[in-house]
Amino acid sequence: MQSLPGFRDFLPDDCAVRNYVFRRWREVARRYGFVEWDGPVIEPTDLYRKKSGAEIVDQLFNFTDKGDREVALRPELTPTLARVVATHEREFRKPLKWFSIGQFFRYEKQQRGRLREHFQLNCDIVGEADITADIELVALCIDNLRAFGLAEGDFIVRMSDREFWTDFLRDNKVGPERWDEFLQTIDKSGREPRAKTAEKLGKLADSIFAVLDRGGESERLGRVVDALRMRGLADFVDVDVRIVRGLAYYTGIVFEVFDRAGRFRAIAGGGRYDNLIAQLSDGAVSLPALGFAMGDVVLGELIAETPMARQQMNEALAAGHRIDIYIVIAKEERRVDALADVQKLRDRHHRVTYPFTPTKVGKQFQAAEDSGAMITILYGDEWPQLRVKELAKRKETLLAREELLDNVWRFLGFSGPTR
Ligand code: HAM
Repeated sequence: MQSLPGFRDFLPDDCAVRNYVFRRWREVARRYGFVEWDGPVIEPTDLYRKKSGAEIVDQLFNFTDKGDREVALRPELTPTLARVVATHEREFRKPLKWFSIGQFFRYEKQQRGRLREHFQLNCDIVGEADITADIELVALCIDNLRAFGLAEGDFIVRMSDREFWTDFLRDNKVGPERWDEFLQTIDKSGREPRAKTAEKLGKLADSIFAVLDRGGESERLGRVVDALRMRGLADFVDVDVRIVRGLAYYTGIVFEVFDRAGRFRAIAGGGRYDNLIAQLSDGAVSLPALGFAMGDVVLGELIAETPMARQQMNEALAAGHRIDIYIVIAKEERRVDALADVQKLRDRHHRVTYPFTPTKVGKQFQAAEDSGAMITILYGDEWPQLRVKELAKRKETLLAREELLDNVWRFLGFSGPTR
């Protein structure tokens, strides 16, 4: 039996990496004053049909449930966020700064950096129309990647402005009902043969290609770059109007993050979507909004291939994996006493393990080494004294059993009695 294509098993080492990523994501979002929320993993298919745009709808994992509802596993969070905000808007002071970490599902062709499930960090600001919110969001995205030990030589945020293109289309007498189609074509232009793009763009092909080849510029984006320069983050961003974003709901500044060497698909993407909440609530609630999502798949690959980031992760993982104490039961008649102590040590938040069945002492020490334990405590001939061994120092100390609980922290390198 194999897992479905594009779905991952998370063995303990993979889970440790995943938790490391989540921990960093959470830390940085909290640093920016964002609070955590979540939504359901299954939503009515219509939510995405109406709001996400054609590309995502083609990739939906959807089915009819037992109550005959058309439902889909969530491919992204933004439509859910818009629905939740439209419903609960009055309960919160604006602007909202919300983040979420969860799993998403897209029936994509499996390839490097793209699977059929992935985890995303989503960070969104709702209720702020000023450009300072766009700047804050880009800074948050950059700092999220910096937290993994990634530097300006490792990744780049490419920023663009959808208004640049909608102004262009308006100036060229393209009706708003066709903007989506043009934007999608421009978004795909980097991944499609030029002739195919040209055919779709029709008589505007030459002028659009001229802009794409130039890279383009915009006054608003210049302001964002200047503000990021004040924060010392300008080297992480580039203005590039070739970025359009595949999702239909964006209205203003948009951005995507790539590795500098261009080896991978996008690490993160987002932008402003000022009309989505109003569209979803039929105009009942109208709030400007912006956000981005960062996926775990490409990020994981980039960390693995960047020496600084890999080292930082490995150090964090080694510390996280460790247990504190391995209880060596050298004499089986001491097992009951040993287990009583195991319970008390665990009550004090120490990470403790022991052999389930009678085991040779040498094997127990080997198991202690393998588990990364800091110390072993041996229950044997010296009872009621215990032999504490600090494994890294190879140092042994005899300790009276009644002194164990109050003194064990001294052997663990802790600064006080609790973890
Ligand atoms: P997105 O660009 O579709 O944006 O996805 C964001 C990130 O999720 C991508 O940059 C990528 O890292 C990751 N990702 C997407 N699909 C896959 C996949 N099949 N396999 C692995 N990773 C993937 C959104 O989802 C927007 N809702 C972001 C947003 C939030 N905009 C505003 N707020």
